[in-house]
Amino acid sequence: GPRCAAYNEVQATPVKRLCKSHSIITVNGQFPGPNIEVRNGDTLIITVSNRTPYNVTIHWHGIRQIRTAWADGPEFVTQCPVKPGGIYTYRFTIKDQEGTLWWHAHSSWLRATVYGALIIHPKEKKSYPFLPPKREYPILLGEWWDQNPIDVIHEAISTGSAPSISDAFTINGQPGDLYNCSTKGLIFIIKTSSFVDFSSLTTLKKMSISISEITIFPVNPGETILLRFINAALNTELFVSIAGHTMMVVAADASYVKPFLTTVIMLAPGQTTDVLITTSLPPSRYYIAARAYSSAESLPFDNTTATAILDYDCGCLPGPTQPPPAQPILPAFNDTLTVTAFSAAFKSPTPVKLPSPVDEHLFFTVGLGLFDCLPGQICGGPNHTRLTASINNVSFVLPYSSSLLQAHQLAVPGIFTTDFPAKPPVEFDYTGKNVGRELWQPEPATKLYKLKFGSVVQLVLQGTSIFAAENHPIHLHGYNFYILAEGFGNFDPARDTEKFNLIDPPLRNTVGVPMKGWAVIRFVADNPGVWLLHCHLDVHITWGLAMAFLVEDGVGELEALEPPPLDLPLC
Ligand code: C2O
Repeated sequence: GPRCAAYNEVQATPVKRLCKSHSIITVNGQFPGPNIEVRNGDTLIITVSNRTPYNVTIHWHGIRQIRTAWADGPEFVTQCPVKPGGIYTYRFTIKDQEGTLWWHAHSSWLRATVYGALIIHPKEKKSYPFLPPKREYPILLGEWWDQNPIDVIHEAISTGSAPSISDAFTINGQPGDLYNCSTKGLIFIIKTSSFVDFSSLTTLKKMSISISEITIFPVNPGETILLRFINAALNTELFVSIAGHTMMVVAADASYVKPFLTTVIMLAPGQTTDVLITTSLPPSRYYIAARAYSSAESLPFDNTTATAILDYDCGCLPGPTQPPPAQPILPAFNDTLTVTAFSAAFKSPTPVKLPSPVDEHLFFTVGLGLFDCLPGQICGGPNHTRLTASINNVSFVLPYSSSLLQAHQLAVPGIFTTDFPAKPPVEFDYTGKNVGRELWQPEPATKLYKLKFGSVVQLVLQGTSIFAAENHPIHLHGYNFYILAEGFGNFDPARDTEKFNLIDPPLRNTVGVPMKGWAVIRFVADNPGVWLLHCHLDVHITWGLAMAFLVEDGVGELEALEPPPLDLPLC
């Protein structure tokens, strides 16, 4: 098919946000990075030249990478990082995928600023399964720190404590005009059915509009518009609303869904959601606003609101004296009811042929934990501990001396083991409080779970409350999976199997495992390679909330991993 070749330089670029300038790592000097727009069936050849002082890799989030795991990108998993001054070319073909995906750095916290949209249009002469929109906009939600995000995570790692929360959210790189540099902007968009006490929050005085810090989306009255939302934030789930406009959700994670209407959407980091809106309101300016959904009970979070403007351009709006844009209503920060109802609304457009029977029944606990502190360590966690995270009590450790995929392919011993447990070592009340830490000190290790080519996997993801229960957006590389059900409490097969949607479950690459709850996913292991499964809150992957599947080759050439590219970086 047609090819799309690009040359990208990853480099440090000075950027001014929130009244301060500092250098951030960018791609081609752009922040957010370049949008990549291609068609289903295209082959992409993207050269990454690393002009930064850091190791860099790029991940094409949601691209299946069938037989091309070498191009997937997570550092020390499918490749060694591209070192400062180095270069690597990612080559892959888009096979039967269309919709909104994105790309981001997959090294340390570089993805805070190194990200962009990856939009896959239908093949030529093919159309969307809905009336063609008049125009389309990618809308990237991001998270901004007033300092180098790499320093933020290094500080957290060295002390074992939680990283400082972000200073603002951004929409296409801009925080918007509700942000007040001197007070760090509190919020005044509040839903009435609020579950939190807002009396402690003060109302923000509006500062003058700095047009350079807000993104404006020009539209015409009477149009249908496709908005492609991407949550590229590091650690925060986000609600998004558009003043006065109802959204029709048509796709998520580059899979179409049965369309449904909503006034608010919620995206976890990693997720994408495509919506249609109609510009049928009186010509004016309307805010698009995003702010945190914070499921965790007592953890601090960034409570600023990011804004952009949907600007109806009819030539009839007054100039600089025009009234402020209309404001949307956003749910309360902890409005889990809205989140639950929203995720329950997702269905595949038509009944699906669900893979069965299940060959592998897996049960993974996902959550945060605590390490006892060793002598000489700085212990920023509660009661002389360091914060950690794990799946089935294994806290994932990257190998550093090789990538897992290279070690697998060359049969290098000692890099990983394949004894990742199919279920947690002990059963307990996962979502209860006061679980003894002695019962649950995670083991730091590099363990993979081996899957036969073509096996059908059903995986229960069970959130834990050992330390700070919260919603964990779990992302699987190399695959899409059906979400069969989600629920609260401890998963109980006798009771909860009845809730499975075996008719038209949605297909996604990232599932929000509800706080103190569970989610069940199913997929066919038909893509050979080493594939990371991890929480897409970056601080949790840093702490070890990850594991990897090793999917063996099938029989015959078409079921085998392709040979590694000649320019694959070495560690
Ligand atoms: Cu978008 Cu491994 O991540």
